[in-house]
Amino acid sequence: MKLSIFIFLHFLLIFFHVTFSVSQQYSSIFNFGDSLSDTGNLPLILNASTLPIGSLPYGMTFFGRPTGRFSNGRLIIDFLAGAFGFPFLPPFLARGKDFHQGANFAVSGATAIDIEFFQGRGLGDIARVNQSLSVQLRWFEELKPSLCNSTRSCKDYFSKSLFMIGEIGVNDYSTPLRARRSLKEVRSYVPKVIEAVSTVTERLIENGAVDLVVAGDPPLGCFGVFLTLYMSSKKEDYDPSTGCLNKLNDLTRYHNRMLRRLLEQFRTKYARLRFTYADYYDPVIRLARNPTRYGASIGIQIKTRSSSSLGWISRIQQWSFKSLLRRWRLI
Ligand SMILES: *[C@@H]1O[C@H](CO)[C@@H](O)[C@H](O)[C@H]1NC(C)=O
Ligand SMILES: *[C@@H]1O[C@H](CO)[C@@H](O)[C@H](O)[C@H]1NC(C)=O
Repeated sequence: MKLSIFIFLHFLLIFFHVTFSVSQQYSSIFNFGDSLSDTGNLPLILNASTLPIGSLPYGMTFFGRPTGRFSNGRLIIDFLAGAFGFPFLPPFLARGKDFHQGANFAVSGATAIDIEFFQGRGLGDIARVNQSLSVQLRWFEELKPSLCNSTRSCKDYFSKSLFMIGEIGVNDYSTPLRARRSLKEVRSYVPKVIEAVSTVTERLIENGAVDLVVAGDPPLGCFGVFLTLYMSSKKEDYDPSTGCLNKLNDLTRYHNRMLRRLLEQFRTKYARLRFTYADYYDPVIRLARNPTRYGASIGIQIKTRSSSSLGWISRIQQWSFKSLLRRWRLI
């Protein structure tokens, strides 16, 4: 696994805000996604010593050791688990764990679309994590009999669960972008990504999910890897207020618009369920506009590829976590 595949994910770990408030307790949390929420599945699939997350600074500020998270500290899913009174969500592949209070199916590098799609387009060298949403869903369905064993008891069980879907999609787009495919081609993946999210969401609903948080994507045009790969001498390629790349942020906004539209459709179709859109986009933009507010070095971090000095992450996590808890009326 190439180190660079993951570098650009670091700064994304942190910004998560939810567009409406709940004050609700759950009996379990089930999470699907990629490195923004993987709490340790990837090292159980690939040899950890070949991964950048196998050593410090990963895990440095909170756990004191690498834990398989793409962060120096905790992820949003960790803060959420804590806020709802759960232990850290165990990675599904850690066999022998008790999953009654939830499981984490997220795998770093995972795509929404199945890997065969990328292989069929000559992108198999870049897309190498075969734990797409459909594979993660299969894991969930494998786990299910150990949690409940009648339709009725399952519906009852999952009606008290929080289902988190995403962030997912970043890797579906970063794969062709890293191969410098045309933006037209990359945009054509968006409906397929949304369809994959739609399919997994509906399957979870069939299984009894009633409370679902679906997360949008963070702005790709602010990722260090793309600011480097797509560096331009034309001023108009950049948003002057953030220094991020306009075209790639347009791509992310397109994805997020389609995702919100999907949620609107779900709200109509399943009027008694709860769908929450979690926004990763605006908080990153706010941060890029006003880095000093969140820690002076952030602007520089976003604009370089550095992955080694992650000290600012925990500060922002803290800020973001507090605002999240306020929104969820937990503090
Ligand atoms: C990916 O995983 C799925 C489920 O385990 C499997 O059916 C499929 O063959 C795998 N694909 C590749 C390309 O490894
Ligand atoms: C499954 O059913 C058996 C017997 O009907 C019961 O003893 C067991 O606790 C059930 N398992 C779960 C997870 O509900």
